[in-house]
Amino acid sequence: YRVDKGNHRHFMAKEIHEQPEVVGRTLAHYVDLAAGRVVLPEPLPFDFARLSRLSITACGTAYYAGLVARYWFEQIARLPVEIDVASEARYREAPLERDGLTLVISQSGETADTLASMRYAKSQGQHTLSVVNVPTSTIARESSVVMPTLAGPEIGVASTKAFSCQLTVLLCLAIAAGRARGTIDAAEERRLVDALITVPGLMAEALTREGEIEILAREVSKARDVLYLGRGTSYPMALEGALKLKEISYIHAEGYAAGELKHGPIALIDESVPVIVIAPHDAVFEKTVSNMQEVAARGGRIVLIGDSKGAAEHGLDTLATVTMPDLDATVAPIVYAVPIQLVAYHTAVFMGKDVDQPRNLAKSVTVE
Ligand code: G6P
Repeated sequence: YRVDKGNHRHFMAKEIHEQPEVVGRTLAHYVDLAAGRVVLPEPLPFDFARLSRLSITACGTAYYAGLVARYWFEQIARLPVEIDVASEARYREAPLERDGLTLVISQSGETADTLASMRYAKSQGQHTLSVVNVPTSTIARESSVVMPTLAGPEIGVASTKAFSCQLTVLLCLAIAAGRARGTIDAAEERRLVDALITVPGLMAEALTREGEIEILAREVSKARDVLYLGRGTSYPMALEGALKLKEISYIHAEGYAAGELKHGPIALIDESVPVIVIAPHDAVFEKTVSNMQEVAARGGRIVLIGDSKGAAEHGLDTLATVTMPDLDATVAPIVYAVPIQLVAYHTAVFMGKDVDQPRNLAKSVTVE
């Protein structure tokens, strides 16, 4: 595996652009295309059908992948999920059922808090399933079963391709859980697998929006604060968007559930605060539209990342719109990772920041 920047200015740019390929490779590892089924690379030492709940823990971007996965496990497999950041989970002394399952997500497989949470779960008699990118890592070695992400080495400190590969593996796991629990039938599994197969192509299409994102990033770079909003799986994507932006541009950014707007952040809205709304056309889209109208009514400047049924159809006046390809809403988070990463990347580059080595941050946090 070649670890250089190729034709890119930064590792982060290269890693963003690699996503159609590495997500495709990860998918090929988990999906039997011809059969239209998910096929896990390893047998599971537990039965999804017998679980009463799933605990998920991780840090940073991996934690946001877990938050997205909560919606998938609950909706597709009807499996209740509890999720916490590992730095809390390790000390919470949460009661965990013997023979239950803890899922940990980590790019490096070495994050101290994530490892400690996993060891705590083990000490409670839980099975541990890790979704990791470094197969030789401590977390991979110590977990009962490893589901690898095949993103290849990730060099940029801010995680990009590891995140989209984590989402890919997590959706495959949720589908496998749904089949085991009898909450989806073969036709529904095929529908979900067919949607997954379109993802690498959709990500490639999303990458063609880079030019317009570069232009809107100039606007974002002038802001002191940026708000990200989303509902459903787009809510954790809003959190991830805000994290990416603050990590590499040092602009203060917050991600909020769109429905929480009224409970605080609406007080901050004026023309100086760009509001980036992540809103694919899904079951909660109309609800997000009314939140956008509330922002617009207060002079807020909306940047909409949506699809063809987005802003224009609702007569919304936006500062910029990134029109994403139409897609199956279940896979939207994987594809929408691309524009979210590009907004942060181009904002930071425009501001002259060191995007691959942001100040005070480490790629792998192996101490508490
Ligand atoms: C650090 C990195 C993040 C990463 C987090 C968790 O904060 O800068 O990009 O998401 O650690 O790391 P892990 O290796 O466990 O995914």
